[in-house]
Amino acid sequence: MGGVGLAYAAAIGYPIYRYLNSPVEASIQMAAVKDVTLPDADKLPKGSALMFKFGIRPAILIHHQDDSWVSLDAICTHMGCTVAYDPKKDHIHCACHGGTYDAKTGENISGPPPRPLTKYVVAVTPGSVLITRAQHG
Ligand code: FES
Repeated sequence: MGGVGLAYAAAIGYPIYRYLNSPVEASIQMAAVKDVTLPDADKLPKGSALMFKFGIRPAILIHHQDDSWVSLDAICTHMGCTVAYDPKKDHIHCACHGGTYDAKTGENISGPPPRPLTKYVVAVTPGSVLITRAQHG
């Protein structure tokens, strides 16, 4: 009798545990990631971009025509779609509802996005690019 009760508790306990645990796991992973090194990203041609993961979040690194480097969080601040760099228009575009962002500052410039994209700090060195979370406060 006791064994059956225990098995039942274990059976319903597991999905509840998973449900509670997943967001916590995700936020712990995010908190742990302070920087990302991208080997050979210093060779990214001007006017192009590459997508990478900053922890669990998609992010974007852009090497602009004027030789400046910009890295931004790539999750749209409207409803969370992944955004992309449009080299022809030189802006960040969200395909879900047509939102656009400035490709240098991350400012939301048109469409529904309510806030800018989070900007990371970029350090280019021979052989790699280091992306760091900006310090606040
Ligand atoms: S989710 Fe990007 S514009 Fe709506």
